[in-house]
Amino acid sequence: MTNKITYLNDGEFCIIKKDHVEFFSEDGTKINKKVLELSTEEEKYDKGDFKHFMAKEIEEQPITLKNGIKEYIDTSNNDINIHNFPWKINEISSVTLIGCGTAYHSCLMAKYWFEELTSLDVNIDVASEFRYRKNRFKKDTLYLFVSQSGETADTYAALDLCIKNNMKTCAVVNVIESSIARDSEFVLPIHCGTEIGVASTKAFLGQILILYILALKLGSLKKDLEKKTYIEKIKDLKELPKLVEKTLSLDNKIQAVSSTFNEAKGSMFLGRGFSFPIALEGALKLKELSYIHAEGYPAGEMKHGPLALIEEGMPVVVLAPRDDYYKKTISNMQEVIARGAKVLLITNKSKDEIVSENIWETIEVESTNEDLLPFLLTIPLQKLAYYSALKKGFDIDKPRNLAKSVTVE
Ligand code: M6R
Repeated sequence: MTNKITYLNDGEFCIIKKDHVEFFSEDGTKINKKVLELSTEEEKYDKGDFKHFMAKEIEEQPITLKNGIKEYIDTSNNDINIHNFPWKINEISSVTLIGCGTAYHSCLMAKYWFEELTSLDVNIDVASEFRYRKNRFKKDTLYLFVSQSGETADTYAALDLCIKNNMKTCAVVNVIESSIARDSEFVLPIHCGTEIGVASTKAFLGQILILYILALKLGSLKKDLEKKTYIEKIKDLKELPKLVEKTLSLDNKIQAVSSTFNEAKGSMFLGRGFSFPIALEGALKLKELSYIHAEGYPAGEMKHGPLALIEEGMPVVVLAPRDDYYKKTISNMQEVIARGAKVLLITNKSKDEIVSENIWETIEVESTNEDLLPFLLTIPLQKLAYYSALKKGFDIDKPRNLAKSVTVE
């Protein structure tokens, strides 16, 4: 309806008439406001040949990654450029990442990478918890606010609290005109373009890409990462869009297994280490789109309670890429199989056979370095949620009871 936008600060108001608008300050004085124009690219965003925005957004993920790499990676020198980063590296000794929903899962994912690649202390928090806790604000902490929309009320309130306490704030957002982006001291845009589907897909991959790049850069600046390792990891990153593209073609098997999830009372998503945040994200996607109960759990926690949920025929997704946790996760998988679970194993291609019996179905994504496997493991889970909602005939782009941007508590 319009490509013009302006922002009202607290207390300001406006009167909109048929053909013009007037702005006022809190005391009723008329004021002039800067009117910005949205880019034509955003105006044009439509479904194209896809049935749903979500399907389109899943397929757009290689482009999201290419955009992020183009923005932050100096591909000829295998280096990372974060222009105008406002702080000196010795001013930062810890990071706190805050978000909601999928964005929170990005924070959790980043925690593993920051701990692996840097010597920084890492904390993460769900924004609605952070804002009401008695936080210990520390001058040498970098507070990262992760949000697709940049308008999530709880995330904004957490940012506001940090601003009031004079903390270092950085937004990892998609919508760069948003409140979170405008009020943070520094912004790292994720450049995934408009995301319409309520279920976040390409924004998740965009967020974790930027957070991974930031972890690599801080690791290198802090001299926690050897130059050689840093360069190797950047080289691998450049290959990521192609690998995601290949993984996107794994459609048939996922479509077939989605029926079993639809018929089940509930399901579980298990992973360890780097795969645990992805298990949470897979479970969230399934519940929000297909209204199927889905629990994401650390595979190693099963014996501490959730194993009691497993019954004959229950679908369980096990994320077990060939990483340091592989053997442990396979052993957790065998425990659920022994109790009757139908296991969908998602791993990556390898010359080594999978030594386990009675796996219901296996999906193999491409192989790459361990840090990057979470990007690939995410794809089948997004598709699983999409196809099960499609089969159920649910409103995929607008699931019941949910809004794209949660602007109230
Ligand atoms: O716009 P944000 O990234 O701040 O939104 C946060 C969550 O509301 C959002 O990720 C939500 O969990 C998604 N619908 C999940 O797909």
